[in-house]
Amino acid sequence: MSEQILIEREEGLLTLRLNRPDKMNALTRTMYAGLADALEAAQEDRSVRVVLITGNAECFTSGNDIVDFLQEPPSGPDSAVFRFMRALMEFTKPVVAAVAGPAVGIGTTLLLHCDQVFIAKGAKLKMPFVNLGLCPEFGSSFLVPRLVGPVKASSLLLRGEGFTGVQAVAYGIANEALEDGAAALERAREVCQAFQQLPPAAVALSKRLLKAPFIEELRRVVAEEGQHFVQRLHSPEAHEALSAFTQRRQPDFSKFL
Ligand code: COA
Repeated sequence: MSEQILIEREEGLLTLRLNRPDKMNALTRTMYAGLADALEAAQEDRSVRVVLITGNAECFTSGNDIVDFLQEPPSGPDSAVFRFMRALMEFTKPVVAAVAGPAVGIGTTLLLHCDQVFIAKGAKLKMPFVNLGLCPEFGSSFLVPRLVGPVKASSLLLRGEGFTGVQAVAYGIANEALEDGAAALERAREVCQAFQQLPPAAVALSKRLLKAPFIEELRRVVAEEGQHFVQRLHSPEAHEALSAFTQRRQPDFSKFL
């Protein structure tokens, strides 16, 4: 298991901590595989009652590693990122997130699939998929308009407008905005303790019922977005945007008609 994902176990609570601070916790294929393995094992392990996903006090994650996107982009449903997100979406037990600092790209998307999110007021969320020549992923084109309505969703997903932890609560993406990362983690851990006291079968059944009205549609959207996303990673627009990030310059889309 990679040390860039720290896995901690305390009684029925499994904590997955993103730990690549020198790259703002940017997620690599190896990290996604570690997260997927941990979630798949936790799904089968009856003694795990709740999962907490977090980063550190300054950063949740800057999203998918952009060098990985350029050098070895995901190719489809068997890729590690798909395996991780599938395990998260289909996880039958509660998943809680504690978020501080940047939560970019998949760092925001994955929150849409958590049951409870506790976030620092000043957290910086963003879904800059179009800005990177890509498209919404893992159900965000379905879930975000459902949460915020189509007009706001176009700001968040077409323009990649950033938003804070306070706004994430207003948008229905997070439960509570706390003073800072430490307070968000403390509150998330309290909620995890509370989940551990609840009857697990009733929790799992209720989680399934909450998702039942839309889960089939969500799976269909995830598959469609995934096909487009994988293709977009090979597009000249994405190549320009991703290369611009690694070269620390502004992208130039003027040549694209
Ligand atoms: N992939 C790869 N490396 C990344 C990264 C990413 N997604 N995000 C940050 N890094 C790296 C930087 O290249 C830098 O590495 P270096 O020190 O070797 O040059 C280091 O992490 C610190 O990042 P930096 O940009 O200097 O930090 P910052 O505090 O100024 O900005 C962010 C933080 C998150 C706003 C900024 O890094 C960013 O916008 N990252 C890209 C986010 C993104 O587009 N993600 C993909 C979404 S699909």
